[in-house]
Amino acid sequence: TVIWAIWLAVAYLAGAVPFGIFIARCQGVDLRAVGSGNVGATNVGRALGKKWGLICFALDVTKGLAPVVGYGIASGQIAGTPDEAAAGAALAAVMWLSIAAATVVGHVFPVWLRFKGGKGVATGLGALLGVWPMLTVPAAAAVVLWLVVVKQTGYVSLASMVAAGLLPVLAAGSGVVLARPTGEVAVYVAVTAALAGLVVLRHRSNISRLREGTEDKVGWAKRG
Ligand code: G3P
Repeated sequence: TVIWAIWLAVAYLAGAVPFGIFIARCQGVDLRAVGSGNVGATNVGRALGKKWGLICFALDVTKGLAPVVGYGIASGQIAGTPDEAAAGAALAAVMWLSIAAATVVGHVFPVWLRFKGGKGVATGLGALLGVWPMLTVPAAAAVVLWLVVVKQTGYVSLASMVAAGLLPVLAAGSGVVLARPTGEVAVYVAVTAALAGLVVLRHRSNISRLREGTEDKVGWAKRG
């Protein structure tokens, strides 16, 4: 548990690194004053073009993924190892997902930005991709879904909310396919549902703009 506590702190601090702000500042842009004002890859792309948006996306995914992989290596385990006892499996899931959630919380509520951070989509994706094998395939499937919605509608925010909202369902499916104990699957479903709730809450301004028909469509796809 000492290893877990250390990695929980590492995960929060890694998540709190504001790559979007850094990238924009290097280009002389105040990201808070451009587009949606968000610190995420979408707004970096809006402000600086597709290339920088993709770089920010890659960095934000990596800062979510790295602490989860680091915790796995440090604690010498693989999430969801099939021979675990049911009770142990649920506890292991809680520990894994707390690391994943800590990076997202770090990104959304970063201490360096007076707790005013991003929307948790790219960082959450990275973190969940690292929870092998239970959430790796669901997270990858969510990316495919995200791409389809962006392509069909042009709205990144809508795609993010749809993809996040489907994750608990995909996690439940993954639990069935991998024949995991019910208690463990319940943990995965509950935590992905909580993360989805956080993602939707962070998109409140996007939701109002979508309702009003003023939400920005992916301009960086055209300009970038
Ligand atoms: O990941 C955030 C994305 O879903 C929306 O970003 O800048 O359009 O609010 P933005």
